[in-house]
Amino acid sequence: MPDDTTIEAEDPKREFDSVEDDFDEFYFPRPGETDFAALADREISRQISRRGFLRGTAAAGAAAFVASTAPPRSAASATPVNSGRFGFEPVAANTLDTVTVPEGYNWHVVARWGDPLWSRGAEFDDATRGTGESQELAFGDNTDGMELFTADGRSILAVNNEYVNNKLFFAAGKPAGPDDVRRAKAAHGVSVFEIAQAGGGWRIVRDSEYNRKITADTPIEITGPARGHGLMKTRLDPAGTTARGTWGNCGSGRTPWGTYLTCEENFNGYFSSGDPGHKGSAELLRYGVGVVDWGYEWASADERFDIAKHPNEPNRFGYIVEFDPLDPASTPKKRTALGRFKHENAEVALAADGRVVVYLGDDERGEFLYRFVSEGRYAEGGDNGDLLENGTLYAAKFDDGGRGEWLELTPRTTGMKSRAEIAIHTRQAASAVKATTMDRPEWVAVNPLKAEAYCCLTNNKNRGKKPNAGGDAAPVGGPNPRAANNYGQIVRWAPDGGDHLSDTFAWDLYVVAGNPAVHSDANAGSKNVTRDNMFNSPDGLRIDTRGMLWIQTDGNYSNAKGFAGMGNNQMLAGDPATGEIKRFMVGPKQCEITGLTWSADRRTMFVGIQHPGERGPGNSHFPDGGETTPRSAIVAVSRDDGGVIG
Ligand code: FEO
Ligand code: CA
Ligand code: CA
Repeated sequence: MPDDTTIEAEDPKREFDSVEDDFDEFYFPRPGETDFAALADREISRQISRRGFLRGTAAAGAAAFVASTAPPRSAASATPVNSGRFGFEPVAANTLDTVTVPEGYNWHVVARWGDPLWSRGAEFDDATRGTGESQELAFGDNTDGMELFTADGRSILAVNNEYVNNKLFFAAGKPAGPDDVRRAKAAHGVSVFEIAQAGGGWRIVRDSEYNRKITADTPIEITGPARGHGLMKTRLDPAGTTARGTWGNCGSGRTPWGTYLTCEENFNGYFSSGDPGHKGSAELLRYGVGVVDWGYEWASADERFDIAKHPNEPNRFGYIVEFDPLDPASTPKKRTALGRFKHENAEVALAADGRVVVYLGDDERGEFLYRFVSEGRYAEGGDNGDLLENGTLYAAKFDDGGRGEWLELTPRTTGMKSRAEIAIHTRQAASAVKATTMDRPEWVAVNPLKAEAYCCLTNNKNRGKKPNAGGDAAPVGGPNPRAANNYGQIVRWAPDGGDHLSDTFAWDLYVVAGNPAVHSDANAGSKNVTRDNMFNSPDGLRIDTRGMLWIQTDGNYSNAKGFAGMGNNQMLAGDPATGEIKRFMVGPKQCEITGLTWSADRRTMFVGIQHPGERGPGNSHFPDGGETTPRSAIVAVSRDDGGVIG
C-alpha cells in the first residue's frame, strides 16, 4: 500500500492530505504550538549519549546488543564483489523510471500484474486492462509480501496482491459495473505459481498444478477463539465459521512447517453503507470502517460490503490467513488467535521449548506491536497444522530507558468477556492494558543468528499533536522519539535470556532515518544515516541467512525539500553488528519496494516493485516502457558471477 499520505487522499472521509501538506507541517510549526521537533531532538540526543547509540561503523557500545560473534552461516563460498559483509558497492539515489542495482548485479522481470498463470488466460490488454475472467486467471495487482517454497526441486512463489489503484487499474480511472468489481476482487488476495529458469531468466510456469488464485471471494475457514462467536455471524454465514475472501494482503510470513501466512491490512476501505444515515459502531470506527469506502465500490456488486445490511461482515477481516502453498486444494484458514488489526506481516520464531512465537505489527498511527505465543509446541516432522489455532496475544510496552515488556491480553488483564472478544477487538484489548502506541509498525524481522528482532516504524507526522489538530495525541518518547516524524525509524529488541518466550526485553533504535543534508537536528537521523545512504519510511524488512538486514522503503519520493537527495523508493542492506547501511537498489518512479524472498540456492533474490507511477497515468511506464500502463512486478536480482546474495 502506498504510504499513508496517499491512502488518505483516496479516502473521501479523511481530510485531503497531500505531500505538500507534509512539507508545510514539517517546516512551519504553527505559532503557539509546542516545538515537538526540538523536544524530540533533545530526546534523541539523550538516548544516543546514554546508550552508546549506533555510531557509523562502531559497535553498539553500552547498548544491550553486542556485536554478534557468530560467523556468517552461509555465503562463505561466495566471492564478494567488494570486501566486508555487504558484497556490493552502493548505488546512488536517483529518480529514474527503472530498477537500479549495483555494479556486478543484474535484474529482470519475473511476473507483472495481469500476466496469465494458465495458458487459457488472455494476455494483458493495455487498452482495457483486462476483464473479470482474464484477471481471475492472472497474477494480481500490487505485489507485496512473498515467500518461495520448494518441492522436489520445483520453485513455488506465494505472493500477496495487496490492492488496486483505481487510477491505473481501470482505463476510466474508476470502476463501472459488476465486471469491474469482479476484476478488482480477482486482483486482490494471493497468487501462487510455479517459477522456473528458462530462456535466461526466471519465468512463470503456466498451467503448473501448483498455480492457484486466492481472491476476495475464496472460501476461508475461520479458526481459533473467534470461530462461531456472535460477532462473526452474518446472514450469509449464520454459523460464523466460513468467510469469503481475503484482501488488503500486505506482508507475509512462513512457518517452520511449510505454510504461508498472508496478512490482512487495510481491510476496512472496502466497506460502505447504502443507507447514508447508518451509524457504524464505535468498535468498527476504531478499525476505520465507516459508511464511505475508499473508492472501490464493491458494495455496488456484492451487498456483503454494505455494513448497514451486514454489520458483522467487517469483523471477519483483519486476520492472519494460513495455507499450504504446495496443496492447491487446501482451504485457507483465518487464524483469529493472532488478533484482528491492520496486520503488516507475521514473523515466526521458535521459543527454546518449541512454542511458536509470532511477531505482528498493526500499521496504524498510534496502534501497537504484538506477540503471539502458541499453546502447543512445534515438533519437527510432527503434526503442526493447528499450532496457530490456540495461544496468547501480548502487546508491547516500551519504557524510555531501553527496557520493555510484553503485556498479556486475557479477559483478566483487559476486562473483556472472552478470548473471542480479544481476538476480534484486539486494538481495544491492547489499549486496555496500556501498551505503547507506536509510529505505525510495519514489518518485523527476526535475526536467525541471534535472539533479536527488528520492526520498521515507518513514520507518523501527527504524533504528539492534539487530536483536534489531526494528531493522535500519542506521547512522544521511547522508540517513537520524534513528533512530526516524516522519516521513520527501526526499533530492535532482544528478549531477556535469549529466548523469544521471555516477557521482558532490552530495546534500542537500530536506525533513525532522516536527512543530514537538510537538517542538523533530530531530523538529520542517527549517526549511521549519511548523505550517501539516506532514505525515509522504512517498511519491508527481512534478515537473510547471513544475518544481514534488508530494508525496503515506502515513503516520500518527491526528492525535494526535506526529502531532497533521497530519490525514488529503495532497498538497502544493513549490518546488525555495526549499524552500517548501504543502498542496494533504487526502484522506478512512484513505486514502493515491498516483498523479498530468495531462491533455494540463494543466488536469486526476488523483489517486489509495487505501484510504479501510482499518482496516475503517464507518471511511469515501468516495466515495459514506451507509453504502456505501469504494472507492479516481481523482479529477480542476481550477481553476474552467479554468487550467493543472501
Ligand atoms: Fe501494506 Fe503497512 O503496508
Ligand atoms: Ca508503508
Ligand atoms: Ca508495507
